[in-house]
This record gives sequence, structure tokens and C-alpha cells, in this order.
Amino acid sequence: MESETFIIELPGWTQLLPPNEIFGSAPNSAEASSDKQDRPLEVDLGCGKGRFILARAKANHDTNFLGIDRLLRRLKKVNRKISREDLSNVRLLRVEASYAVEYLLPPISVSTFYIFFPDPWPKRRHARRRLFTKSFLDSLHRILRPAGCIHLATDHMDYFTEICGLFGQDHRFTAVPAFLPSEEERTDFELVFLKKEAQINRCSFQKTEVGDPAVGGINQKLAPPQAGSEVS
Ligand SMILES: C[S@@+](CC[C@H](N)C(=O)[O-])C[C@H]1O[C@@H](n2cnc3c(N)ncnc32)[C@H](O)[C@@H]1O
Repeated sequence: MESETFIIELPGWTQLLPPNEIFGSAPNSAEASSDKQDRPLEVDLGCGKGRFILARAKANHDTNFLGIDRLLRRLKKVNRKISREDLSNVRLLRVEASYAVEYLLPPISVSTFYIFFPDPWPKRRHARRRLFTKSFLDSLHRILRPAGCIHLATDHMDYFTEICGLFGQDHRFTAVPAFLPSEEERTDFELVFLKKEAQINRCSFQKTEVGDPAVGGINQKLAPPQAGSEVS
């Protein structure tokens, strides 16, 4: 039997995605209600095979989760797992991450972004394909709710340094202690890297509140992000 689809069909490529509506019209629609629509929304950009988003959604029923990836076959796998686990708080979207943040996610709609092991494009001539740019940060800032966070992990030291540099120069974000996943939340790629004993670098940033002293000076509330700050 075909499993239900939690993969969103966009109302249009130039229209903002209405997260309230997509979570309000749950396939298990007996559960659809307005309180579901006002929940925090967490987005896993490049969700891959979904180990993280599924663990998180299972443990946080009062939060909505959106997994974004450009590979349909990966999303189909996650879709089957959502169906099997009977989770009503997860939706998936097949689209380029940069397109989603630039054109689809509405302003002040997302409470948390998780960006785990984004493709590092290690060759110099491919570096411009990297997701993190100044304009990507503009989009994240526009979409995040007040005090919203971005959590990042990568095994790629150069990319990590570049990302920390971009955030470090941007006073609209404040460094906060890095998000550490529970065992269940470790992503599929993280498990592979851990097996290889690769160093995993993590950092987290919060949308700086207006009036926060960080706006005028050092954009660092607590400890700065550190390479390999949690190597398991
Ligand atoms: C290295 S994998 C990491 C997957 C997952 N976050 C994990 O840690 O297991 C990168 C994922 O991001 C997706 N991806 C890469 N570039 C993307 C882009 N520009 N837009 C959307 N998805 C992208 C890939 O299809 C892949 O699933």
C-alpha cells in the first residue's frame, strides 16, 4: 500500500510557503487544529535520510518540523519512516536550500534551523556552491523568529572556519553554546564520521535581540564556537 505523503506540494514557486496551512492540513486531519499551527517551527536544511528530524519530532510533539532536501529519493525514505512512526508534526520539502530560504519561507516563521554536514565543496573552483554566504545569512535573519537559533555541525575545518567568520562579522547574530545532539539525534552522516573518528565541529548562533549589548560590540554572549568542541 502507498504510504501517506508528507512531502509538500508547493502552491507555487513564487509564493511564500504558508507553514500554518501545511501543518494545519495534516494528513491525519482529525488532529488538525489551530493550536498545531502556532507551534514552534524547526527546519532541518539538508535533512538527508532523516535520522535527526525523526528523533527530534518523536521527542517533541508540540513542535512542527520541516525537512528540506534536494534529493527526492532521500525524502521518500524519510516519508516512509514518518508514516510508519505515525508522526503528524513533520513535513518534507524537495527544493534547493538556498531557494527555500530566499523565496519560500516567510519572514519571522522559523524558531530553529539545523544545518548538519552541509556539502563542503572542497575544491577551490566549486567553493561558490557553498550554502553559507552573506546573502544566505540575510535570509536566515529575515526568517528567524526573535531569539531564533541556527545550529551547525561539520567535519570540514575550512568550511567551519569560513562559516564562523561570516557569523562573527555579523552583529545580527550572537554566538551561543553549541547544540549537542543526544545519541538518538545524531545524524546519519555524523554516525559515519564518528566511525571514521573524524573531528566534528559545532557552532550555534542566535538572532541578536534589538537592544542586546552584543549589537553594539562583541557579538558573543558566551563561549565562542570551537573547532572540535565536541569530539565523540
Ligand atoms: C552531507 S549530507 C548531510 C545529511 C544530513 N544532514 C546528515 O547529517 O546526515 C548533505 C545533504 O544535504 C542535501 N543538500 C546538499 N546541498 C543541498 C542544497 N543546496 N539544497 C538542498 N539540499 C541539499 C543533500 O542531498 C544531502 O542529503
